[in-house]
Amino acid sequence: MDENRKLYEIALMAKENAYAPYSGFKVGAAVLTADGIVYTGCNVENFSYGATVCAERTAISKAVSEGRKNIVKIAIASDSGEYTYPCGICRQVISEFMPEGEIIVGKDKEIKVYKASELMPHAFAPDK
Ligand code: THU
Repeated sequence: MDENRKLYEIALMAKENAYAPYSGFKVGAAVLTADGIVYTGCNVENFSYGATVCAERTAISKAVSEGRKNIVKIAIASDSGEYTYPCGICRQVISEFMPEGEIIVGKDKEIKVYKASELMPHAFAPDK
């Protein structure tokens, strides 16, 4: 199986752990680090809605907190039947940790791959 498809399938599995009693919208994410490790994430909601954390940020925080800041890909999955794109806050976090990376979204058997810079052009970022 192709690497992008594999990462998307892992995101689909991660979705099963979503804690989404308020929205009912389960999301899974999987990030691949430069050294080949995969970290998964899901959305974790809270009755104080603003405390909710998206699947993408859960996965990225897991990688970074384990010392892996060099993230090359992130796949995102939900049950919506449509491609699930990262929200604005997640695009900002993706820009921080994987500005040169790829974002993988899927729908049925179809996979789409975007450069992070395509989904977050002119990101708010320090000069490098
Ligand atoms: N959500 C994500 O996990 N990722 C996104 O990029 C968009 C939104 C979650 C947050 C909330 O738990 C639910 O989807 C509905 O907004």
